[in-house]
Amino acid sequence: MKRPLMLLSALLLVSTTFAASVTTSSVADVKKKGVLILGTDPTFQPFEYKGSDGQITGFDIDIAKAVAKDLGVKLSIVAVGFGALMPQSVTSGRVDMAMSAITITPERAKVVGFSGPYYRSAQVFIVKAGNPKKFAWPADAKGKIIGVQANTTGQFAAQDSLKPKGAVLKVYDDFAAGLADVQSGRIDALLGDAPTVISLKARLPGQFEQAGSALVAEDYGMVFARGSDLAAAANKTLARMKASGEYQKLLDRWIVQK
Ligand code: ARG
Repeated sequence: MKRPLMLLSALLLVSTTFAASVTTSSVADVKKKGVLILGTDPTFQPFEYKGSDGQITGFDIDIAKAVAKDLGVKLSIVAVGFGALMPQSVTSGRVDMAMSAITITPERAKVVGFSGPYYRSAQVFIVKAGNPKKFAWPADAKGKIIGVQANTTGQFAAQDSLKPKGAVLKVYDDFAAGLADVQSGRIDALLGDAPTVISLKARLPGQFEQAGSALVAEDYGMVFARGSDLAAAANKTLARMKASGEYQKLLDRWIVQK
């Protein structure tokens, strides 16, 4: 090899190694640290929320705990608002992994690495019990005020399908603030993920219900830096949990099927 070429390949090697250690957390990095750092927006019961003891808990958290356990490390949880969670928290290397009922989309897959799908969900309309403003999808959207959480697939779908039909969108950073506005009647409906409505109905009977049919079906994935081998490790844990019945137990525990 000629000298300039050798120099160039040495430089390339240095720069790729450097880039990898800064932004892409790998299985080896996590094992070396002894901890898997999970980023999550804990306002989304039953997937992630703060329990009465102040601890972050939920379906996603239990899956993340299993991934950490299989890697032989501890799980450390960082609360990050959804706007900063996707995708910056993982692309910056602030966290090793994000789980937050995050929908797998082709656009997101261009910037982050997804595990295989772990839960089939849908975007549905949450209204005050009794549906006082008589919102129904797909029958009408014209003139209705629909709340969406910023940076979520609910917001993207509403922009594509509801806005052109004359709906007015109200964007919330915090999902809980949207729910409060449904309760007070400030908005006609809030777009949310289907299991959040099931959970609301179980926790706060007679306060919320789903209106009309689902807007769009979607699949959740665990999120890593693009190219990280942690995604394959997560897939292995998922397969193990499905085979052992552990995954079904978590579904039964967290996602009320009523
Ligand atoms: N599934 C939707 C998305 O990926 C919403 C997720 C919101 N999650 C949360 N923890 N607030 O965009």
